[in-house]
Amino acid sequence: MTTTPEKIKVSLNNQNIHANVPEFVEVVSNIYHQYEASVYDISQISLSNSVWSWQMALKDIQPSLIKPIRVLDYGAGTGFATLQVLQSPLRALVKEVVCYDLSPAMIDICREKMKAFPHVAFTFLSDVTGRSKLAEEKPFDLVVTNALLHHLLEVESFVQHIRQWVAPSGYYIAGHEPNYNFYVNEKLVEATRKFQQYKRLRQRLTWRYWMHKTGIQKSFHDLVTLTNQELIKRKLIVSPIPRNYLHKLVDIHVPFGISVNQPWGEIGFQDTKILRWLGNDFEMTGMYTYSHIKDGLADNDLFWRKRLQKLRKQYPHDGADALMIFKRKF
Ligand SMILES: C[S@@+](CC[C@H](N)C(=O)[O-])C[C@H]1O[C@@H](n2cnc3c(N)ncnc32)[C@H](O)[C@@H]1O
Repeated sequence: MTTTPEKIKVSLNNQNIHANVPEFVEVVSNIYHQYEASVYDISQISLSNSVWSWQMALKDIQPSLIKPIRVLDYGAGTGFATLQVLQSPLRALVKEVVCYDLSPAMIDICREKMKAFPHVAFTFLSDVTGRSKLAEEKPFDLVVTNALLHHLLEVESFVQHIRQWVAPSGYYIAGHEPNYNFYVNEKLVEATRKFQQYKRLRQRLTWRYWMHKTGIQKSFHDLVTLTNQELIKRKLIVSPIPRNYLHKLVDIHVPFGISVNQPWGEIGFQDTKILRWLGNDFEMTGMYTYSHIKDGLADNDLFWRKRLQKLRKQYPHDGADALMIFKRKF
């Protein structure tokens, strides 16, 4: 079976890019997230949908975490998952938090935000140097990742790595990841297609759409163009990587076009697969799924919100985004 790195290699070679795949993917991700950092908190509408699942999950695990705890937020970005922990019933227990992200720009914003919690001892790490410092840390009582796994080239080896950071009786929570069950649920995929058609029609009725369409108003940020420009400047590519492919190099395991036919990557994640990667000493203690219509805007529309609620009841495990809770038994 051809692996994701092999498939990406073929695609890059076809575009005359002969780079080392893991290094190239990391550079692309880093440049993209460097630009995204400044707009991240206003552009990620779908993240707010995950707050409820985070708060439920943290409430679920609170009774078994009684002493002061140490937390690792891996791929912390601007600190979303850390904030979830510090705004949950666990906050009084948290003694120490390590935030690590590949992108120094993301970690700079995270550091600023965490100044609001002077009672917690924070360590902020980034880039490759931060990663080697992290390797020296003792296991944590709680390891959190949010919207991270789908960016990683080798998820299986990362998850096997994560297990070493979880102390016995500790937890790993993987939040806001694409859920395999959604992509194979024809009803939900169809409902999403219908919503997208409706959204496109509505957009055509706005002046903003026509201003963009006619080029009168330019988009205020375009992460793909900026990333391509930087890659060309660094002489890593000679011509821009097509938009969909560049997105797919960043969001490796997010299915594009809500289709199971993908050039590479997992078609979302299966809880059972992640558990298998974690190993026999882990058990799954909970899972929350949401976004039964895969579009953050569906919730803002009265008709579609009702439809969403119905679908959520009908398919509780099949939302497009999932949060999974794993416990290390021994
Ligand atoms: C979608 S953002 C999520 C950030 C944050 N966890 C949140 O929920 O807002 C993905 C983050 O993963 C980071 N990232 C991507 N690849 C990574 C890697 N190999 N190691 C660590 N962080 C990585 C990016 O820099 C980015 O900050």
